[in-house]
Amino acid sequence: MNPVGKTKLDPAVIRTDFPILQQEIYKQKPLVYLDSGASTQRPRCVTQVMIDCYEKTYANVHRGIHYLSEQSSQHYEESRKKVAAFIGAGNENEVIFTSGTTASINLVAHSWGQQHIGEGDEILLTIMEHHSNIVPWQQLASRTGAQIKWVGLDSQGNLDLEQFQASLNSKTKMVAICAVSNVLGTINPIAEIVRMSHEVGAVVCVDAAQHVPHDETSVGQWDADFVTFSGHKMLGPSGIGVLYGKLKLLESMPPFLGGGSMISAVTKEGFVVGELPAKFEAGTPPIAQAIGLGAAIDYLRQYQMEQIFDWELELAQMTIARLQEIEGLHVLGPMDRRAGIVSFHIDGLSTQDISLFLDRQGVAIRAGHHCAMPLHDELGIRNSCRASFYLYNTKDDVDYFVQALVGVVEKLR
Ligand code: ALA
Repeated sequence: MNPVGKTKLDPAVIRTDFPILQQEIYKQKPLVYLDSGASTQRPRCVTQVMIDCYEKTYANVHRGIHYLSEQSSQHYEESRKKVAAFIGAGNENEVIFTSGTTASINLVAHSWGQQHIGEGDEILLTIMEHHSNIVPWQQLASRTGAQIKWVGLDSQGNLDLEQFQASLNSKTKMVAICAVSNVLGTINPIAEIVRMSHEVGAVVCVDAAQHVPHDETSVGQWDADFVTFSGHKMLGPSGIGVLYGKLKLLESMPPFLGGGSMISAVTKEGFVVGELPAKFEAGTPPIAQAIGLGAAIDYLRQYQMEQIFDWELELAQMTIARLQEIEGLHVLGPMDRRAGIVSFHIDGLSTQDISLFLDRQGVAIRAGHHCAMPLHDELGIRNSCRASFYLYNTKDDVDYFVQALVGVVEKLR
C-alpha cells in the first residue's frame, strides 16, 4: 500500500519530469541513462527553481539589507532546513553547505583531523572506499604521522565485520566508511559500525553519497558523527554538497577555510570565528545550487524513500539475473540485498570498448575504476563496467541494456 501523503512510484510518469531523458541520440537510439551513480539527471522543477532564483531573487546571502538579499538568504536557509529534515538532523546548524562530498570529507580531515589526530593514531578505512574517502585521510596521515588501516571484504562482497571489529583499538581515532559502495552496491551496517567504533572512542565519518539519494537516511539512527553527500547525485545541481556533523563536534572544531562570512569580527591583530553554520561557509556560497538542492529534496519527498530503494533493488536483481545469459561475465558485489548499482567485467573484453559500443546503442554506463582503485586491486581486476539506477529507470531500460550488451559482446568476441 502507498503510504499516506506519498505519491506512488511510477517511473514511466516520473520520466516525463526529466526532459533530458526524452531525447533520442545517434540517429534515433533511445537514451538509456544508467550512470546515476556518477551523477543523476534533474527534473524540470529543479532547473526551474534555479532559473527563478537567477531571474527573480538572486543576490548574495547574509550580506545586504535589501529586498533581493533577504529573499535570497531566506531561500538559502530554507534549503538548509529541508536538508536537515530530510536526513533527520536535530538542528539545522548541523548542516554545512559545501561544494560536494569530496569537500565535506576534506573539511573533516583538515579541521577535526588536525585537532585530534597525532603520531601513532590510527585511521580505519575500508577497501571499498571511493578515492574521496581515502586520499584526504592519507594526506592527514602524512601530515601527522598517523597510520591508515584497512578492512577488507568477506567472500560475498560485504564488509568483513569480524575483521572490522578486530581492527578497532584504543589507537583508532577515526573510522571513515561509505554507507553504500559506489562499485559493489554493498550496503554497510552503519549503525552497527558506529556502535562498535564508539566503544573504542573513535569518531565516524560516513560517505553517504550513494545512500542519501536512494534510501531513508536518519543520521540520528546511525548516530554517526559526520555524514557527507552531494546534491548532483540526488536530482540537484553540481557544486553543492552537505556536511552533517554533530553540533558539539562542529562547535569544537576550528574553521577550515578563512575569509568572509566565517568571522564575527576581524581586526589588524586577528579575527573572531563566527557561529555555526557560517563558521564553515567562508566566501560566497553556491546559492542557486543550495536552492536547487532544496527543490530536489521537495521532489524526492513526494515518494517514500524506501520505495525508491525497493525499485532500484528490483532493477538491479533483474539486471543480475539477465546478465547470466552472457558467458564469462562476472558481477561484482553481493548478490542479494544491494543498492541499485551493478558492476561487472567480462573475460577477455575491454571495459572501455564495452562502454563505447553500448554508447553507440544509446546506453550510458560508466567504465573504469570508478575512483576506487584499491578496491579493483583487491579484486584482482583493473577496472569494471557499471550500470547504476535511479527512480526514473524502468524495466524497459534493463531489457534494452542487456539486449544491447549481448550484441556488443558478440561483436567484440
Ligand atoms: N563518485 C562518482 C562515481 O562513483 C563520480 O561514479
